[in-house]
Amino acid sequence: MTATVRTRVAIVGAGPAGLLLSHLLAGAGIESVVVDQRTREQIESTIRAGILEQGTVELLDTLGEFSRARTVGSRHDGIELRFAGHGHRIDFAELVGRGVWLYPQHEALKDLIAARLAGGQDLRFGVTVERVEDADGALPRVVAVDADREELVIEADFVVGADGSRSVVRAAVTGSSTGGYFREYPFAWFGILTEAPPSAHELIYSNSPDGFALVSQRSPTVQRMYFQCDPEADPNALTEEEVWSALQARVPGTTLVEGPIFQRDVLRFRSFVAHELRKGRVAIVGDAAHTVPPTGAKGMNLAVADVLLLNRALQALLLEDDERLIDGFADAALKRIWKAQHFSWWMTSMLHVAPDASDFDRLRQLGELRSVVESEAGRTYLAEAYTGWPFPAP
Ligand code: DHB
Repeated sequence: MTATVRTRVAIVGAGPAGLLLSHLLAGAGIESVVVDQRTREQIESTIRAGILEQGTVELLDTLGEFSRARTVGSRHDGIELRFAGHGHRIDFAELVGRGVWLYPQHEALKDLIAARLAGGQDLRFGVTVERVEDADGALPRVVAVDADREELVIEADFVVGADGSRSVVRAAVTGSSTGGYFREYPFAWFGILTEAPPSAHELIYSNSPDGFALVSQRSPTVQRMYFQCDPEADPNALTEEEVWSALQARVPGTTLVEGPIFQRDVLRFRSFVAHELRKGRVAIVGDAAHTVPPTGAKGMNLAVADVLLLNRALQALLLEDDERLIDGFADAALKRIWKAQHFSWWMTSMLHVAPDASDFDRLRQLGELRSVVESEAGRTYLAEAYTGWPFPAP
């Protein structure tokens, strides 16, 4: 049995990009169907990054009472860069008059899912997309298997792949599931969640001879921290004591408040930009289109910027039959994508210690860090990029 559904926009992926796009389209009276392979519980419990740009929070504000970013999340007006035994505050508020919010992505997803369901969104979990057909036609199709193992075909005026770094939709756009510009890194992050009071009231990005560490927070009683590790590391191979001593060694000058570790993961990362972002009536956004290393927390915010551009382009196309914005979508999105790629690569390479770093590399890196913190122009660039360049209008 095959069920066929007809909609205006078929959105593959109920992550931040897919859900936000369905919200913006609904606001313009454009109906969509959102499908995701995962269950709602999986989406709402997968631990991801925690920093939202001000523009992202303002967009979440349009969910009304559903957004808890400002009540449960907390505003941060700066971060600390630590190296060579000293901390240096980058004061976002003073430098660029903006801040960021620490609000975990899975909490934002709970808000988005609740808001979309309350708004009557057709949102289906447990749906595995196999392929997208007829990208160049007037009515592309998503071919999938639903939660009951029945074939599901979604016919739409436009198909959007917001289906993450292992995107299935990408192949319909680029001609292959991997086609893109890549960079791999010789390190990964060992991440923990611990039940403990905060060790610092702002984030500390620390470069030390032993490698990078990031001290982040979640709540008054739960903290998130990361340290640089081998990409092949087994998250369960270290005892809690070994995890704490690895972290502690990388944040000299601060005594971390230790507590039970209740979640640990190794995050491998890479930089990636797909060769194409659109083909005919199919486009990819968010991690399906690009991934950034986590240093600087650009991932979700970049997805939001893609969605704002695509939303406007789809409104013009579907409401006014105007193709100009959709024709310019990839070029417009790529300008920000490559700026964010650069910033994420720069923060990563400036703060981590490569396994084969020579003394020259190490001393040059300290020179680079000093030229950022000791210059108002250097600090301002970091603050501008971290808090986010202005978003396109919704
Ligand atoms: C967090 C993650 C990041 O990648 C980052 O740059 C800052 C904070 C976090 O998970 O808290």
